[in-house]
Amino acid sequence: RAPEEPLRLFRLLAALKRNPLECWSAAFFREPIAKVRLPFADAFLVHDPNAIRHVLVDNADNYRKDPIQRRILANGLSDGLLSVEDARWEAQRRVLAPLFARRTVMSFTQAMLTAVDGVTKRWGSLGRGAMIDVAAEMALLTLNVLALTIFSDGIAGDYNEFRDAMNAYFAVIGRIGVLDLLGVPQSVPRPGGGRLRRTMHYFEGIIDRIIDTRRGRLAALPADETPADLLTLLLRAPDPSTGQSMSLAEVRSNILTFLSAGHETTANALSWSIFLLSQSPDWRARVREEAARELAGPLEGLADRLVVTRAAVEEALRLYPPIAALSRMAKDADTLGGIAVKPRGLIVIAPYVLHRHRLLWEQPDAFDPSRFMPGRRGTIGRFAYLPFGIGPRICIGASFALQEATIALAALTQRFDLELAPDAKVWPLQKITLRPENGLPMRVTPRDCG
Ligand code: HEM
Repeated sequence: RAPEEPLRLFRLLAALKRNPLECWSAAFFREPIAKVRLPFADAFLVHDPNAIRHVLVDNADNYRKDPIQRRILANGLSDGLLSVEDARWEAQRRVLAPLFARRTVMSFTQAMLTAVDGVTKRWGSLGRGAMIDVAAEMALLTLNVLALTIFSDGIAGDYNEFRDAMNAYFAVIGRIGVLDLLGVPQSVPRPGGGRLRRTMHYFEGIIDRIIDTRRGRLAALPADETPADLLTLLLRAPDPSTGQSMSLAEVRSNILTFLSAGHETTANALSWSIFLLSQSPDWRARVREEAARELAGPLEGLADRLVVTRAAVEEALRLYPPIAALSRMAKDADTLGGIAVKPRGLIVIAPYVLHRHRLLWEQPDAFDPSRFMPGRRGTIGRFAYLPFGIGPRICIGASFALQEATIALAALTQRFDLELAPDAKVWPLQKITLRPENGLPMRVTPRDCG
C-alpha cells in the first residue's frame, strides 16, 4: 500500500480480519515511531530501539497486555502465563521457570530427536517424491515434542483424541471477528459462539481427565519425588513466596497456554526455515554438511554445535517471526521519543516490521543466515531483533524452541530433499501466528545418507 494512502476504517477492519500483515504500509518500515488514529484509541507503531526498550523493559510496569490481544487469548487462556498480570504472573513464572532452565532444556535433546525420528519414519514410508504439507507435518512434530518433553507423555493415553480436540479448538479460537476488533464486549453473542462453547467444553473434558490421572499418579509418589514436567509443577509446586498452589482455572489455562504457545510458533519457525532453505542451495549444503558431522557426535551440547543450522533458524525468525506483532496498552500517560502517549494508548511493536526496518538492517529482505553466525551475531542490536519479545514478559520457551527447531531442521535437511511444489504460492498470513497462507506443499524424497 502506498504510504500516503489513508487507513480508512473499513479498509483497516477488512485487512485486520483477513491478514493484519496487510496493514503495515511502506512508511512503517522507515519511520521509527508512527502514530495512527483509530476510532477507539491512538495507536503507536514503535520501531525505534530506544522506545522499544522504554516500553518493554525500562518502563514495563506502565504497560499491560492490551485488550485486543486479551480478547484473542480470552478463550481458555485467560488464567495462564501468557495472559495473567502482576502478582499472579510473577508467581506462575517462578513456579514454571525450572522447566525452562538451560540444563532441563538440554536434557530434552533425546526426546526431540525421537520425535524427529517419528517424522523420518513416516516420510520415509511414503515413497520417492510424495507430496506433503510441511506446515501440517511440522505442527504434528512440535505437538509430539511437547508431549514427550514438558508433558513427559502425560497426554499419551489420550493422544489422538486430544490432538483432534486441540485442532478443533485452534480452528475456533483463531477466529477474530469485526465485533472483536471494534471492542464489543464478549458478553454480546457472536456468530459461531455456540460452536466455540461446545468445542471448549469437549476439550476441557479431556484436559480435566488428564489432570485427574496425573493427580492420582502424584498422590502415589513420595512428596520429595517431583518429576520435572509441566503438569507436576502446576499441580504440586506451591509458589515459593506465598506457599499458595494454583487454582484449577490456572492449571487448565496453563495446559492450554503451553500447548498453544509452544506448538504453532515453533512449527511455523520450522516451516519457514525449510521453505527458505529450499530456495537457497548454498545454505542448504552448509546445513547438510554440519548436520552430517554433528548428528553423528555426542548428544551433549548438540544444539550448541549446530551453529550454521541455528543461524538459518534465527534468520527465518527474522524474516517470518511467528509472533508478528506484540501489543501493549499504557496505564498512565508517557512520552515515547518525544511523542505524548495518553493513558490507554495502544503500542504496537511488530517484529515483522522491526526485522525488515530500513534503518536497522542491511538488505533486510534477503535471506542471509551469516548475520547470525558467531562473530557477526554480536553486531545485531538488542532491540532490533525480537522474535521472542524482551523484558519481563520475554518468551519463557525461547531456548526450548531454538533448540527444538535447530535439531529438527538439521536432521530433516540431512535426511530428505524437500522441493517446493511447482504451483505453490507461499505467502505469510497472520492468524495469531505468522504461517504460510496455503500451507507448504513440498515434494519429499529420502536422501541416501546412511
Ligand atoms: C511469550 C514467541 C515458542 C511459551 C512469547 C512472546 C513471544 C513469543 C514474542 C512474548 C509476547 C509478548 O511480550 O506479548 C515465541 C516464538 C516461539 C515460541 C517465536 C517459537 C519459535 C514457545 C514455546 C513455549 C512458549 C516452545 C513453551 C513450551 C510462551 C509463554 C509465553 C510466551 C508461556 C508467555 C511468557 C510470559 O508472559 O511470562 N513467546 N514463542 N513459547 N511464550 Fe513463546
